[in-house]
Amino acid sequence: MKTQLALPVTKVQNSRIPETDFSNLVFGRTISDHMFVADYKDGEWTDLRIEPYGPLSINPANATLHYGQSIFEGMKAYRNEDGKILVFRADANWRRLNESAERMCMPELPEEVFMEGLTQLIDLDRDWVPTAKGASLYVRPYMFAMDDYIGVRPSDTYKFIILTCPVGNYYSKPVSVKVETTFTRATEGGTGAAKTAGNYAASLYPARQAQKAGYDQLLWTDGRSHSKIEESGTMNVMFKINGKLITAPTNTGTILKGITRDSVIQLAKDWNEPLEERFLTVGELESALIDGTLEEAFGTGTAATIAHVERINVNGKDYILPSKSADAFSHRVLAELDGIKYGQVADPHNWIISI
Ligand code: COI
Repeated sequence: MKTQLALPVTKVQNSRIPETDFSNLVFGRTISDHMFVADYKDGEWTDLRIEPYGPLSINPANATLHYGQSIFEGMKAYRNEDGKILVFRADANWRRLNESAERMCMPELPEEVFMEGLTQLIDLDRDWVPTAKGASLYVRPYMFAMDDYIGVRPSDTYKFIILTCPVGNYYSKPVSVKVETTFTRATEGGTGAAKTAGNYAASLYPARQAQKAGYDQLLWTDGRSHSKIEESGTMNVMFKINGKLITAPTNTGTILKGITRDSVIQLAKDWNEPLEERFLTVGELESALIDGTLEEAFGTGTAATIAHVERINVNGKDYILPSKSADAFSHRVLAELDGIKYGQVADPHNWIISI
């Protein structure tokens, strides 16, 4: 990709790579050397730069700290066998960031700022992209309010940052989930579709209750009737029942428009797999678990990739899912996505950019 914006770069004096154990990466704990930063003031994005990753100076009256006007994205970069760095569906992340920005009364970020910041940062920190199979560089673009103002209104100033972290798996084994019918993640007219900090903050308490009970995550249901499966805390979810894939639609404004979800749907279409974008009811899920027609359940997400579900709690009862054959859809789609991301198979939908 051609570089168009000349970003000022301040490099670290000493890289932290030598002290980083790339064979033991805990998701989200290790941050790479540099970050991309842009400031929004007087109606425009200015002062674009790359600088050492480090503390920010924020006043105690900062509006984000009080009212949570903050949005983020998650994407990944991979190292292929030729040493090229491949980034998966960055344009989709840029579009979704701006959809979240609109919902949260935040300024649009131009594509050029996002893409140049992203590609130049990754190029500078390319040695941080892990080489081990399954490992990648997680990329976290985010925007937040910078006004110092203790009143409720949209900020006039913002910061946009991209930082990156070398990561292994988010889930290192198949996950156990519990269908949540008391707490609510999102409801129509709310912010469920936006990737905004408050959605995650509000999910912490119910998720902790589930974790104390031995589950990794919740399966959220709709806020109105708690009868329809929506998504999980860190990923969208898909089920295969009687040979048909089922996943919740994203047109209610309550569900995150997952980019991995979209990629899996596209591959399912390419392979002529029967797929329905419709709500699966809790009753249908329970019946399919009881009569053995639920063949597969899995999460889809950037961090989670394809996360196999091995146990589901519905209405207080645990069900263990059948073990999957090697040619199960979730195995095949994970292998295909990995193949595309690591540049080992064709990329017919132009999902990859190479740095
Ligand atoms: C992602 O998958 O990128 C996310 O933002 C989920 C987050 C909980 C790690």
